[in-house]
Amino acid sequence: MATQTRLAVGVDIGGTGIKGGIVDLDAGTLVSERVKVATPEGAEPQDVLETVKEVLSKLDAPTTGLPLGVAFPAIIKGGYTLSAANVSDSWINFAAEDFFEKGLDRKIHFANDADVAGIAEVRYGAARDRSGLTILTTLGTGIGSAMIYNGTLIPNSELGHLDRAKHKHDAEHYAAYSAMEREELSWEKWAKRLQWYYSHLEFLFSPDLFVVGGGVSKHGDKFLNLLDIKTPIVAAVHRNNSGIIGAAALAAE
Ligand code: BGC
Repeated sequence: MATQTRLAVGVDIGGTGIKGGIVDLDAGTLVSERVKVATPEGAEPQDVLETVKEVLSKLDAPTTGLPLGVAFPAIIKGGYTLSAANVSDSWINFAAEDFFEKGLDRKIHFANDADVAGIAEVRYGAARDRSGLTILTTLGTGIGSAMIYNGTLIPNSELGHLDRAKHKHDAEHYAAYSAMEREELSWEKWAKRLQWYYSHLEFLFSPDLFVVGGGVSKHGDKFLNLLDIKTPIVAAVHRNNSGIIGAAALAAE
């Protein structure tokens, strides 16, 4: 008798887009089309909720009854969002998990976007079967990070907000993909900033592997080989879908 495919839904809320998909939990792949809707201007809670609803309704199969994971770009503890770097300040100390559960009228599993991307890469991607410390960084609107030691996630690491000594802005303002776009940097110029960032992380944590996620990871060949660090650094296998896949994987537990 054929065994049934285990499915869950992942929604990844980002500073620029809200993405969703249905995930095959055994394969760690999307079995639906990937739906993306722009993050509403200002990213206020009610507007984000409406956009999440829109994403779910646009999926090409019904999702009622499937576990739902929602990933969000903030520190998340006990269902509360405790920070807001690229979203409205209304999310600070906000009971977000409860808000989404009431608004969507279903249970969700709620976690940081980079943390779930890390989970996806550990279970189904670039960090699979890797021991020691893996640091996944997502280079997008901000820089998100997931620290995983021997398969266990250390949540809410927020390594995008490392200070740059004597500079006004933090690491993500200087080195996220949005910095490259904002300042129209060449790959080489951006890679110089990443060189500073990854050598700093390497010095602080002595990791065994860096995984680079976010939309720009599909262009890994344009910048990863420009970096001169000792730690192996590879693009995320699931690219910008890691957040959807990891959110779904966590929701099913
Ligand atoms: C947020 C993180 C998030 C990252 C990527 C940062 O600005 O503080 O929580 O993981 O952006 O979205």
